[in-house]
Amino acid sequence: MEYANLFRLDGKHALVIGAGSGIGRESALALAAQGARVTCADRDLAAARETAGSALTAYELDVLDDAAIAQAVDELDPVDVLVFTAATNVRKRILDYSGEEFDRVVSLNLRASFQLIRAFGRGMAERGSGSIIGFSSIRGTTVEPGQSVYAATKAGLVQLLRTAAAELGPSGVRANAIAPGVVETPLTAQIKADPAWYDAYAQKGALGRWAQPSELAGAVVYLASDAASFVTGSVLAVDGGWTAVDGRFDPPN
Ligand SMILES: NC(=O)c1ccc[n+]([C@@H]2O[C@H](COP(=O)([O-])OP(=O)(O)OC[C@H]3O[C@@H](n4cnc5c(N)ncnc54)[C@H](O)[C@@H]3O)[C@@H](O)[C@H]2O)c1
Repeated sequence: MEYANLFRLDGKHALVIGAGSGIGRESALALAAQGARVTCADRDLAAARETAGSALTAYELDVLDDAAIAQAVDELDPVDVLVFTAATNVRKRILDYSGEEFDRVVSLNLRASFQLIRAFGRGMAERGSGSIIGFSSIRGTTVEPGQSVYAATKAGLVQLLRTAAAELGPSGVRANAIAPGVVETPLTAQIKADPAWYDAYAQKGALGRWAQPSELAGAVVYLASDAASFVTGSVLAVDGGWTAVDGRFDPPN
């Protein structure tokens, strides 16, 4: 084993969906820095182009559109590493939630993930290798009022990826989830705008702060690379200790 190259991705094609913002953007840049050929896909093509710059390829893709996913397979396969980050949250209590809001969150967070795994997993299985990386959340494990549907999709995504790991493992394809804690991106801008809310979240974790999106990139590179060649069906927490620490009380010595 050449350990100096353990995380290198030379010769691999990585497709990052959600690459126009936040964690997806940093994932795309980190995968490219390790030698991968990276396609930066997003519904927002201008944002994908901003990530891609002149070195990477930008690609317009709305993952809510089944036909567009099929076309992406035709145009982009072979894909060795699939990373998808696109997700949405409607923070509202269950009694206030509408059926339309439920459908909107589930369609993007769960159904689109299902369609992407099916679409790109097939070619990976035929070729006998591949790494599928989806984004769950601390909300897949711990909740608070207002997280119902988002939390359900993030727990559901873990089970979807575990099943993909079970079904595609014999064909050499790995599937894993990353579960971030609180990360400063446009998705959490509503929280950052409220100092009490922002600080409460910072204090919940062991590290006492929020993450920057670049701090998720290492987990993506790891799971994409041969460093994780025996890692599948796992959930990698990158949450600053959020799910490790109870946090209700700090007992006196
Ligand atoms: N930010 C956090 O604190 C946090 C915490 C836990 C989990 N996560 C998870 O990490 C992932 C990434 O989050 P983020 O904060 O980087 O999000 P983000 O909102 O910054 O970026 C999401 C990207 O997805 C794109 N997108 C949205 N709908 C799309 C569609 N239909 N088709 C294609 N692209 C679409 C958006 O244009 C955007 O570029 C999400 O799955 C999120 O649930 C984030």
